[in-house]
Formats: sequence, C-alpha cells, structure tokens
Amino acid sequence: MASQSFDLRLPAAGVASHALACGQPLLVSSGLMSGDFRVEYHGMEVASGNLSGPADVLVFDTLSAATVAVAADDIVNAVLEAILTCNPQLGCVELTLADDSLARRLLSLGVIELRGDRLIGRPETFFQQTKPWLGSIPHAYPEVPILTNGALHPQRPPKPTGRVYKRFIPWLNTQLGFHVADVEADLEHFHRWMNDPRVAAIWEDGSDLAYHRDFIAGRLADPRTLPLIGTFGGIPFGYFELYWAKEDRIGPHYDADGHDRGWHVAIGEDDFRGKAFVSAWLPSLMHYMFLADPRTRRIVGEPIHHHSQQIRNLDRSGFAKIKHIQFPHKKALLVMLLRERFFMDRLLSPDLSGLTDGDGLPVLGSLARDAA
Ligand SMILES: CC(C)(COP(=O)(O)OP(=O)(O)OC[C@H]1O[C@@H](n2cnc3c(N)ncnc32)[C@H](O)[C@@H]1OP(=O)(O)O)[C@@H](O)C(=O)NCCC(=O)NCCS
Repeated sequence: MASQSFDLRLPAAGVASHALACGQPLLVSSGLMSGDFRVEYHGMEVASGNLSGPADVLVFDTLSAATVAVAADDIVNAVLEAILTCNPQLGCVELTLADDSLARRLLSLGVIELRGDRLIGRPETFFQQTKPWLGSIPHAYPEVPILTNGALHPQRPPKPTGRVYKRFIPWLNTQLGFHVADVEADLEHFHRWMNDPRVAAIWEDGSDLAYHRDFIAGRLADPRTLPLIGTFGGIPFGYFELYWAKEDRIGPHYDADGHDRGWHVAIGEDDFRGKAFVSAWLPSLMHYMFLADPRTRRIVGEPIHHHSQQIRNLDRSGFAKIKHIQFPHKKALLVMLLRERFFMDRLLSPDLSGLTDGDGLPVLGSLARDAA
C-alpha cells in the first residue's frame, strides 16, 4: 500500500522537550514536507525523519547524537513525546531504528514494545517513562516500615529540591513546571494567594507573612507532605500540596496502601484559571505523582462534600467517587484515581473539544474522549 504523508500538527515554534534531561531542551519541529520532523539541540540539528501513514511509520533518516552531549535515547523520547502529545488520536506508531543496540535499550525501558517483528511506541507505555518529564529515572526508595501517630507506613525518601516536573502543553504553547516551594523565593506570591478570598474560603489559612513562612517551612519539614509551586512559562500560578495518604488524616478512612498519594490545591492567579489551565495542571500533577514512584497505584483527594466545582473537575479527570468521610472539621468526599485508568485511558490528553486556537482551529493536544 502506498504511504501517505501525515500532518504532524506540531506548533510552528516546535515542541521543547527534555528540558531537564539535557539541561537545554531538545526542540522538535516540522520539516519542509508534510510528516517531516527535525530535532535541534543548541541550534544544531541532531535528528530528522518522517511519519507516514496509513500504518503511522516513524522513520529516522538521521540520528546523530554522537556529536553532542545528548543520548540517542533522549532524542527518540523527544520525538515520541512531541508526536504523541500533539497528535493524541494516534493509538500507536511503528518505529524503524537502524541501530539495534538503541532498539534493545528502548525495548528494555518500555519506551517501545515488540509486536511481532515491529517496534511499536504507544501512549499507554510511553507516558509512563520518567526521563522526559522528571529529567531522571527515580529509583524506588527502600521499603522500611515506621510508625507515625499509630499508622504503620513506609519510611519516606528525602525530599527533592528545585524543579521536579516540566511538560510542554500544546494548547497553551507553553511549558508547565512544578518546583518544590522555597520558603523565601515563593513566600510573596504564596502569601498573596492564601489571602485571596476564593482560596481563603476553602483553605482558611489567610494570615500574615510570618504565618505563611512557618506554613511552608512546616510542610517542607514534614516527611508526609511535599509543597509544590506550579508555573506556566515560568510564572508562578498556584500551590499544590502532595501527601502520602497512609499516615495522613485520610489514611484511617479507607484501606490505604503504603504508596497511595493525595493532594490539595490553591490556584492563586486569576489569569491562570479555567478549562485550558486546569486541563493542563491537573493531569500533569497526577502524572508527576505516578512517575515519582512506580509503586503509587492510587491517588486520592478529599474535597469538601459541597465543592461541586472541584468535584466536577475531578470527575472529568478520571477520579471515582468512593464515599463520604466525616472529619472533625468537615464532611468530605473521598475520590480516587487509579494508575491503570490514568494511563490506559490516556487522561494526560484532555478532551478540549470546542476550544479553538487563534485561527479558529481545534486546539492542539485535545483527545475527544469517545475516540480514546
Ligand atoms: C477549585 C480550583 C482548583 C478550580 O480551578 P479553576 O481554574 O478555578 O477552574 P474551574 O473550576 O473554574 O474550571 C475548570 C474547567 O476545566 C474543566 N476540566 C477540569 N478537568 C478537566 C480535564 N481533565 N479535562 C478537560 N476539562 C477539564 C472543567 O470541566 C471546567 O470546565 P467548564 O467551566 O467548561 O465546566 C480553583 O478555583 C481553586 O484553587 N479554588 C480555591 C481553592 C480550592 O477550592 N481548592 C480545592 C480544594 S478541594
């Protein structure tokens, strides 16, 4: 069957990938002909190739990592990330790789799979890779049980510092990042956000600078919690508090596993509220938690039972409603997202049907759910 060119739908300025893994991002952009792509690092072309239909075959014409400080694995990862993120309707792509040892390495990592004698890359497995978004491959911290306030749970690893996650968001044409909150650098905006009436109504933590400095320092000192700041294009927009569920107040209310995680959120900047932004940070935050430890199989949440706005967001993001919990201070709804649901239903790609770009075209990166 004759091959057809494939409209790659990459943004004009390209997809900046692997920002952490390589220090500088790898830039994946469209080539001259439909379906062509090229990869640049520091302005130098390091790979080029083509995706053609109808079998969606991805061919690398050049792949010359030897000249620069970039591994060939990272280049293949960058191309798969760009193509699968901007074209989420693709169920899989078939790769042709001339280098057998590269193919074997990628197979052993699960970047690609063998189907018959074909090499296949598919979103369900590819988005479970860590390097493109975390910049490293985290090891599973040794499992040693300890007791905290009557809860037996695994001892928690030392906390990361600085940037922990970075991802290109096609429909916003910008990078989303999460970094560990810094007591000084993040204090001013955190203080402002916590005093925002919309945030204070839920968090009830409106106060002065000294209180908020102690708040962040306390979360950093507590092995159970990881306070994160989210950024769009480098601009801080919200606070995210991750916790290990087993030793949290939620732990006794269900059969918590040792690596279940949960989270709280406060979006402080009005400019970054609404569908296009929630559908970027929410699935990405879940992605980060599933990637940070492969043993995390469930993510829980406990919105106050009448918070219908957030409960709808959680529902759209794949969380199941489990039951109501009566805490001393609030009645909450226990919600839960399964690792399997998140990756198999490709929830990192949201359904943004109806959203259009500046030219009136459907936004890049949207996956209509009935096509998933
Ligand atoms: C609750 C909060 C996080 C919601 O964020 P927001 O930016 O205000 O977003 P909104 O809830 O107004 O809108 C989200 C939109 O994204 C959509 N959406 C959410 N997840 C989505 C997903 N995975 N895919 C596609 N669309 C999604 C929603 O359906 C909604 O679209 P709609 O307006 O067309 O119905 C934010 O308002 C906030 O921080 N509030 C204060 C603190 C708080 O309430 N925290 C939560 C405690 S549980």
